[in-house]
Amino acid sequence: MIIDKIEPLREYLNGKRRTGLRVGLVPTMGYLHEGHLSLIRRAKKENNVVAVSIFVNPTQFAPNEDFEAYPRDIARDHALATEAGADVVFHPGVAEMYPPNSSTFVEVGGEMTKVLCGTSRPTHFRGVTTVVNMLFNIVNPDNAYFGQKDAQQAAVIEKMLRDLHLGINIVVCPIVRETSGLAMSSRNKYLSEAEKTAALVLSRSLAAAKRAIDKGQRSSAEIAKMITEQISKEPMAKIDYVSVYSYPDLVAVEKIEARTLVALAVRFGKTRLIDNIIIE
Ligand code: PAF
Repeated sequence: MIIDKIEPLREYLNGKRRTGLRVGLVPTMGYLHEGHLSLIRRAKKENNVVAVSIFVNPTQFAPNEDFEAYPRDIARDHALATEAGADVVFHPGVAEMYPPNSSTFVEVGGEMTKVLCGTSRPTHFRGVTTVVNMLFNIVNPDNAYFGQKDAQQAAVIEKMLRDLHLGINIVVCPIVRETSGLAMSSRNKYLSEAEKTAALVLSRSLAAAKRAIDKGQRSSAEIAKMITEQISKEPMAKIDYVSVYSYPDLVAVEKIEARTLVALAVRFGKTRLIDNIIIE
């Protein structure tokens, strides 16, 4: 079932909640892949009713980014989401979410939205937290599911939950990779075959970093250098950042001691890919 308006979705979910059912939300921008489907399957295990939202959110794209080009295929997404366990797909239009007079944003302050992806995408997280907050208000879920591939996004959303006392449980699920190692992403569709092959350097360099850390390397600078050197050998790759931060508070660390995020963003042609590992 696809619902494209807020009120009927609320009515449907309120009906479920009145009978004591637990509601899980999987927010997505559609063009679903195995990563999304793993979130939906997990949500189905842990909730009675699963709502999947499919909304390419304009406020998280800067004017020069790929909002228009972002891949969309609602018929395919609906079939895949339903098969994975979604009870309802919420697919609103832009005017339903942002009526012409809407002017309110939810913004997590401090440094955590300015570092990593926030440096090259300064308005991105404000768009994400605004729309996620809307989706939480509309769906009122018990649990909401996000992927670790967007590790900074998950950390920012968790901070918003704490700061605004939203009583929702966030579940962050592992990155799903192609057998080649490439992290699944709707944006992989933009890659030419040559770029796709070149992009394997991302997961390879992160895996090498993980091995070095497992062998005792604790210097963030050494780990970042090692990854940077490996990616720089790939002529198609243009590095945006390679960074080592504490997780989930996202402070740059010199030593890998507690929970640490090793994250990167790299461009291949016009496509910007992100990937990461979290060291426990
Ligand atoms: O991760 C995404 O796909 C989006 O940023 C999200 C969380 C659905 C908000 O638009």
